[in-house]
Amino acid sequence: MKALVYHGPGSKAWEDVPDAAVQEATDVVVRVDTTTICGTDLHILLGDVAAVTDGRVLGHEAVGTVTEVGDAVKGFSVGDRVLVPAITKCGRCEYCQRGMPSHCQTVGGIGWIFGHLIDGTQAEYVRVPYADTSLYAVPDNVTNEQAIFLADSLPTGYEVGVLAGEVRPGHTVAVVGAGAVGLSAILTTGLWGASKVIAVDTNKFRLTKALDFGATDAIEAGPNTAEDVLAMTDGLGVDVSIEAVGYPETLRTAASLVRPGGTIANIGVHGVPVELPMQEMWIHNVKLTMGLVDTVSIPTLLKMVGSGRIPAEKMGTHTFGVGEIDEAYDVFKNAAANEALKVVINA
Ligand SMILES: NC(=O)c1ccc[n+]([C@@H]2O[C@H](COP(=O)([O-])OP(=O)(O)OC[C@H]3O[C@@H](n4cnc5c(N)ncnc54)[C@H](O)[C@@H]3O)[C@@H](O)[C@H]2O)c1
Ligand SMILES: [Zn+2]
Ligand SMILES: [Zn+2]
Repeated sequence: MKALVYHGPGSKAWEDVPDAAVQEATDVVVRVDTTTICGTDLHILLGDVAAVTDGRVLGHEAVGTVTEVGDAVKGFSVGDRVLVPAITKCGRCEYCQRGMPSHCQTVGGIGWIFGHLIDGTQAEYVRVPYADTSLYAVPDNVTNEQAIFLADSLPTGYEVGVLAGEVRPGHTVAVVGAGAVGLSAILTTGLWGASKVIAVDTNKFRLTKALDFGATDAIEAGPNTAEDVLAMTDGLGVDVSIEAVGYPETLRTAASLVRPGGTIANIGVHGVPVELPMQEMWIHNVKLTMGLVDTVSIPTLLKMVGSGRIPAEKMGTHTFGVGEIDEAYDVFKNAAANEALKVVINA
């Protein structure tokens, strides 16, 4: 089969690799019908993720069709249309049982294994371990082009942003960073009845998208961001401030927007230490949350997408055939210049 193989920093190739096959009785093999690229894949290609080594098939998001089933698999059969999420889970370890499979101890101590610790989804086929507890059947009323965003970016914005931030009816919410993840938070904030959702980004195209995705206001990030946002509230700041960029200054921006008693929900992946004004924050009784997505909200999100409440398909701005995966990477890498959010790659 063909797959996109990582060959060290800056190097990848769509090339022949051994066919994906069932190795454990709990595995299935899925034919990848639709996949996408995540910002994390770009980080891997920069050499930022040391655990990803030469020869690894990239990708951790897919929608596909089951083609082979291990003897112990009960819930899935050949021909089933399934969502392969970014997180794999055994369902039995302590972390899985407390709803935090991002730290599943059985699959490797971390639930994100595709395109990281085992071969991933940017391939014609992928082996899925612990299939019964990891895969989701895709209902008929959800298309591949919608379901693909439930593998990672939508649950991330929802779980690590909206749910961790505890958005409640009437809340004012700021979202710093309107990329796929920030937009996913914007798209799902409305489910909890936020009265105001203020998007903050440096990119005008992203801000236009934010309004289209349900933000009530859009602010171009700059020296007056905090003043501008506070002026849109009762002067005290927002109830929930979501960070979806991953830079020290954007987390500080997010922290500067929150009212006393509010929550800063950090989604961004940080590569360096961040200094925060704790001398001001402590007395404001603010909460700071962070974490790796668990993807446990997928069943909820599938229902909301199926019923039309979440227009997940809006996330896909560019579509490619799998043979054009290099072009897809180029477009995604230069997302701002190409007015791209997420790319859809179909077999
Ligand atoms: N916690 C998790 O489990 C998890 C999962 C997936 C992604 N992430 C992280 O979420 C973050 C967002 O991911 P994404 O795919 O949406 O990335 P993205 O690059 O598509 O979006 C980032 C957005 O931030 C904007 N931005 C850049 N500098 C800014 C600034 N100074 N002020 C305001 N906005 C600014 C960009 O214009 C862009 O729209 C990344 O750090 C990513 O690694 C976390
Ligand atoms: Zn990802
Ligand atoms: Zn587990």
